[in-house]
Amino acid sequence: MGARSILVINAKGGSGKSTLTSNLASYYAVRGYQAALFDFDRQMSGIRWLERRPHEAPKITGVTGWTFRGVDSFERVVMDPPAQIQSRDMAMLVARADVVAILVLPSPIDIHAAADFIRELLIDGKVRCSNKPVCVVANRARTNTLIYDQLCKFLGSLKIPFVTTFRDSQNYNHASRKGIGIFEMNEDIVSRDVEQWWPLIKWIDKHIKREDVRERTRNLGARRPQLKVVQ
Ligand SMILES: Nc1ncnc2c1ncn2[C@@H]1O[C@H](COP(=O)(O)OP(=O)(O)O)[C@@H](O)[C@H]1O
Ligand SMILES: [Mg+2]
Repeated sequence: MGARSILVINAKGGSGKSTLTSNLASYYAVRGYQAALFDFDRQMSGIRWLERRPHEAPKITGVTGWTFRGVDSFERVVMDPPAQIQSRDMAMLVARADVVAILVLPSPIDIHAAADFIRELLIDGKVRCSNKPVCVVANRARTNTLIYDQLCKFLGSLKIPFVTTFRDSQNYNHASRKGIGIFEMNEDIVSRDVEQWWPLIKWIDKHIKREDVRERTRNLGARRPQLKVVQ
């Protein structure tokens, strides 16, 4: 069965794409999947994170450059796109992804940028057209603020599922410095953050499994023995 690819995107840089992709890669590696991080960003923060990764940590392969070479040798692939990306390149990444998560921060600028971005992605058809599962996720949220309420209202008004909110937490910086994900940290310290991951992981798994079933059905169809017609 081919790799299952997850793409995390957003309208602006600095909103946590690399943080989310590295933590997803860490999650799948910890769960025993052959995991890879395809880093399309020239800043290569995903690859630098991997360079800091302890030798004894579950393996994650890093791939750089604008390539999908070798993608099928992995079970779970997370794609980390650059901040500035042409629509054509974005469409190409979206086409390669099995599921897409759109990140939005609780700030007026981000909400505004996200609204335009989502409109371009969904209404202009780049994602919808290809029938891709898409969700939105809020990041770096302080939930008791007015702007977070506004963000929830905005995300709730979209016709795509708003699956989880990640709080603003220094645990992500601690994990990043060590080349690990929060799933690899002391449970007592990260339990509140880990809790916020389950809705996203469940949503991803649900759609990935659906794709697995579709592929299995296709393969069965392809392998179905030809009936010999005896006259
Ligand atoms: N939920 C979070 N809580 C605290 N800091 C975060 C969170 N998500 C991201 N960050 C921090 O925000 C900064 C930008 O995140 P990054 O993942 O590099 O964004 P992007 O890849 O979208 O440019 C980093 O310093 C990262 O550690
Ligand atoms: Mg990044």
